[in-house]
Amino acid sequence: MENKMRKILVTSALPYANGSIHIGHLVEYIQTDIWVRFQKMQGNQCYYVCADDAHGTPIMLHAQKKGISPEELISQVHTEHSQDFQDFSVQFDNFYSTHSDENRHFSSHIYKGLQADGHIIQKTIKQAFDPEKQMFLPDRFIRGECPRCGAKDQYGDSCEVCGATYSPTDLKNPVSALSGATPVEKESEHYFVNLANFEEMLKKWTKSGSLQTEVSNKLDEWFTDGLQAWDISRDAPYFGFQIPGTENKYFYVWLDAPIGYMASFKNLCDKQGLDFDEFWAEDSKAELYHFIGKDIIYFHALFWPAMLTGGKFRKPTSIFAHGFLTVDGQKMSKSRGTFITARSYLDHLNPEYLRYYFAAKLTPNVDDIDLNLEDFIQRVNSDLVGKVVNIASRCAGFITKRFDGMLAESLPDSALYDSFIEAGADIAQDYEARNYNKAMRGIMALADKANQYIDENKPWVIAKEQGKNAELQAICTQGLNLFRVLMSYLTPILPPMSQAVETFLNAPMVWQPEALLNHKIEKFKPLMKRVEQPQVDAMLDASKENLAAQETASKKPANDNPPIADLIAYDDFAKVDLRIAKIVNAEHVEGADKLLRLTLDIGEENTRNVFAGIKDAYAPETLIGRFTVMVANLAPRKMRFGISEGMVLAAGPGKKDLWILSPDDGVQLGMKVK
Ligand code: 2FM
Ligand code: ZN
Repeated sequence: MENKMRKILVTSALPYANGSIHIGHLVEYIQTDIWVRFQKMQGNQCYYVCADDAHGTPIMLHAQKKGISPEELISQVHTEHSQDFQDFSVQFDNFYSTHSDENRHFSSHIYKGLQADGHIIQKTIKQAFDPEKQMFLPDRFIRGECPRCGAKDQYGDSCEVCGATYSPTDLKNPVSALSGATPVEKESEHYFVNLANFEEMLKKWTKSGSLQTEVSNKLDEWFTDGLQAWDISRDAPYFGFQIPGTENKYFYVWLDAPIGYMASFKNLCDKQGLDFDEFWAEDSKAELYHFIGKDIIYFHALFWPAMLTGGKFRKPTSIFAHGFLTVDGQKMSKSRGTFITARSYLDHLNPEYLRYYFAAKLTPNVDDIDLNLEDFIQRVNSDLVGKVVNIASRCAGFITKRFDGMLAESLPDSALYDSFIEAGADIAQDYEARNYNKAMRGIMALADKANQYIDENKPWVIAKEQGKNAELQAICTQGLNLFRVLMSYLTPILPPMSQAVETFLNAPMVWQPEALLNHKIEKFKPLMKRVEQPQVDAMLDASKENLAAQETASKKPANDNPPIADLIAYDDFAKVDLRIAKIVNAEHVEGADKLLRLTLDIGEENTRNVFAGIKDAYAPETLIGRFTVMVANLAPRKMRFGISEGMVLAAGPGKKDLWILSPDDGVQLGMKVK
C-alpha cells in the first residue's frame, strides 16, 4: 500500500521570555495548534515546536531590574508560559528556549556558512550610547520629543501620538530611558548580512507560492526599495550568544530567534530519536511551515531564507501570516481591561470557548480578527452549548435509562449519517487551508441538521408511547452517532471536550468514523456550561485591577515615602563604597538655589568636592566639623558649578525637612560603612 503519510514540521513564533502570554498571542498559538491537531488526526507525521525567545537587551534589563540573572528570569518565564499553553491545550511536541546549546551551535554554523560564502560585511556605525549606563541604547530605550508633532516622552523609533516613524537621532531633547542621561553618539563596528547577495533567490522564492498573495505583493515594495544589509551584531553588554571570532560582539536576538525553531526541533530529535536532516537538509522532502503574525514577515520571508541558504539548509514550504487581535473593535487596552493575559482569562472562563471563537473567526488571510465580547457569549452559547452539546443531551438519557447504555444495532437513517461522513472531505479541506471560519460554518450546518432530525423524530414523545422502544433506541442511536461525527470534526478545536466525549461514548475520536452500533456507552455528564456575562465582566475587572496594581506600585504612596526602588543584585550593592567623611568646609554656591559646596575629608589626605542639595535644610556654618556618610566611588559628575566627586547621604522629603546622616561618636575618618 502506498504510504501517503506526510512529514510535517510546524512552528509558531517564539514568545519573548519577558512577559506574559496574552490573548493576542493566543490567536496564533490556537490557530497553529488546531492545524497541527488536524494533521495528526489525518494520520500525518506532524511535529509542532516552539521555544521562548530568550535573548536581547529588554530581557537583560528586566532581569537586572528584578535583581536576578537573565537565566533565572527566562527559567521563571518558561514555567509560566508552559503552564499557560498547557491550560489552553496548546500542545507543543517541544517547547524549548533559544538560550540553548543547540541554538548556539546552529547560530554559529549559519553565521560561519554566511561568512565563508562572503555574505558578512563589517561596517562602523554611529549609535546612541548611554554614558552613565555605558551601553548602546536600542531605539526603544531612547525617549524625547517627537520631531514631527513635538509630543513629549516618545520612543526613539516612533511617536505614539502622531504615528510618525523616525530614527532616534531625530528626537528632540533625547534622554536615555535607563538613566535619564543625554545619549551621546558613539562609533562601533557592526556585522551585517549582505542581503543584496540573495536578491535573485529571494525574488524567486517569494513568488514560488510559499507566501500568501497579499504578503508576496507587499514584498515587491521591499525589492523595489532595495534590500538593505541586515545588522546582526550588538555590542556588550548584551544577553545572547557571542559571535565566533569576536571579543565582545553578540548576535542580535533576531538572528538566533528563528534558528530557535531548528534548535527546538533538534532537541526533540535527540529526545525521540528522530532524523533531524530529514526535515532540514537542503533536499528534504518534508514540509516546513511557520505560523507568524503579520508584523514579523520581513524577518521570516527575507532574512530567514537567506540565513537558511547560508547554512545550507532547506527553505520553508510556506509561511502563514495572520492579522492582529482587536477586542470590541479596538486595540487591546489596559485601561479598558481588554489587555487580557492568558492567566486572567483562565481564571474566569473556559479556554475552549476562546479556541472555538477564534476558530470561527480565522481565515487564511492576514486580516485582523475581532473578539467582540457580546458576540463571543452569544456564539459560544448558541453554537457549542445550544447546537452541538444539545444533540447529545437530548438522546443520551434515554439510552442510559431505558437501554442500559446500549446503542441500537442499526441506524434508522443511514443516508443522513453518510452525508455527515461525506461532509468531512470539505471540512478537511477547509482545515488544511486554514479556513477555520468556513470549517466551523460547515460543522454548524451539520449540527442544525442533526437537531432538525431530533426535532422531527421527537424522542421525548416516542418515549411515552407504548411499544416504541426499538424506535426510541434507534432515534437516539442516530442522534448520538451524528453527534460523534460532529465532535470528531471539532476535535482539533475542542480537545478536552473531545476527550470527555471519548469517555462518554467509549470510543475513540477519529475523522469520519464508522457508526457505533450495538455498543455500550457511559452515563452522560454535562460537557460544557454556558458562558455568562458576569464571568466576562469579572475578567475585564480583574484585568483593570491588574493595571491599577501595577500603576500604584509605580506611584508615590500616601505617606510620601517613595516606593522601594527596583531590586538590585547584591553584587551591585557591594560595589557602592560608603565612607565616613568629615565636612571640613561648607559654603554657598553663587547662582544655585539648592546646592551647598561641601569639602569632605575621608582621610589620608583625600578630600572631595561634593555639591549637595541641602541648602534649605542647613546653614553652611552649622555643618563644618560634622561627620557624615558619603558614596566615595561615584563617578565624578560635571555640574553647572563644577565637578562633584561623590554624594552625601541624607533622608527626608526634601527642602527644610532633610537630614544628612550623622553617625554616632566613635567613628573615624574614612571608615567603611557596612
Ligand atoms: O515578535 C516576537 O515576539 C518575536 N519574539 C518572535 C520571534 S519568532 C522567531 F523568529 F523566532
Ligand atoms: Zn508625533
